[in-house]
Amino acid sequence: MEREEEKRAAALAAVKHVKDGMVLGVGSGSTVAVFIEALASLMRNEGVEVVCVPTSYQSAILLANYGIPLTSLLEHPTLDLAVDGADEIDPNLNLVKGMGGALTQEKIVASSSKEMVVIADSSKLVDVLGVKTPVPVEVIPMAWRTVAEKLMKLGSKVELRCGSGKVGPVVTDNGNFILDAKFPRIDQPKMLEEKINSIPGVVENGLFVEMAKIAYIGQGKILERK
Ligand code: 5RP
Repeated sequence: MEREEEKRAAALAAVKHVKDGMVLGVGSGSTVAVFIEALASLMRNEGVEVVCVPTSYQSAILLANYGIPLTSLLEHPTLDLAVDGADEIDPNLNLVKGMGGALTQEKIVASSSKEMVVIADSSKLVDVLGVKTPVPVEVIPMAWRTVAEKLMKLGSKVELRCGSGKVGPVVTDNGNFILDAKFPRIDQPKMLEEKINSIPGVVENGLFVEMAKIAYIGQGKILERK
């Protein structure tokens, strides 16, 4: 199955969790973009009504383009369901997220939700976290160098994320920088998540441990955390 088909199948499976009247958290990325399209169809064709808290300018704009009502955690501090993509998924449903740079709002939204559903293609499955992607770490700009040194002491190779369409560092939706910390492998994700977040200057990191309830991976493959 092609990657795009897998994303679509995962997005369609997640849409089945959406019920009339729900307040949804909507993640970011290309798989979520497919989910938003499927959500718009559900609302148009079945008369289902939902309101959504976006996790980035990307998802806010996509939702608004489809005419899907936006809300915020101020109005709805508890969400019924959060749907989001991932960059790595381990067999225990722990995740690395944030290659799209939206990890902080994604983690806030997921942690405010009664249930988190992950949608991804099969390239995101790993036996152990860290083997494919770095852990994105959002940092306060004035602290990036000192945080980078501390992340190196934790055993990672660190790069300041620079993007295209602008010279210099990527600036997040929250006005911060991102450090990509590549560890050889992450055997204790909870411990690492906490260690990284205890470094002064770190806003949040892309390790999502014991947050996701279920992951749809392409067609037919489902991972569930009991
Ligand atoms: C953005 C994210 C995305 O969910 C993650 O990068 C997956 O994106 P895609 O669906 O495009 O592969 O964490 O910060």
